[in-house]
Amino acid sequence: MLNGPNLNLLGRREPAQYGTTTLREIEEAVSELGRSWNWEVVCFQSNHEGALIDCIHNACGRVDLIIINPGAYTHTSIALRDAIVGVAIPVIEVHLSNIHAREAFRHHSFIAPIAVGQIAGFGADGYRLAMEAARHYLTVRKGVPV
Ligand code: DQA
Repeated sequence: MLNGPNLNLLGRREPAQYGTTTLREIEEAVSELGRSWNWEVVCFQSNHEGALIDCIHNACGRVDLIIINPGAYTHTSIALRDAIVGVAIPVIEVHLSNIHAREAFRHHSFIAPIAVGQIAGFGADGYRLAMEAARHYLTVRKGVPV
């Protein structure tokens, strides 16, 4: 699970927009859910585009799927999109807020067209929903045994 810029501030960053759950709480809940399925979940957050790209490159051949909230890089980063396409790992895009109901500059995602799908507007619960979507995708569509 990858989280981009400013998501380390979750819990105290614009709580009306992003809720009060911290990133650590989200990471723990997602890891715990993964454990209950015998999955290993690796969590990484960075405020730096290059560090996120390096992490995606390092995941090549080692992970089945990436759940990513690219933060503001969603709307700006062709490099992040190219990294995902380059490693050919399926991604599920998550946003706590409904980016389509916010400012026009948040409506466009460079990631959405190359993602399996996007979950937006469900707050921290979106990460759990992404895990369920990942499980469904990997088992039903990719035939990975559970
Ligand atoms: C966000 C939405 C982005 O537009 C914003 O820049 C963020 C958080 C979300 O989770 O709702 O940093 O990705």
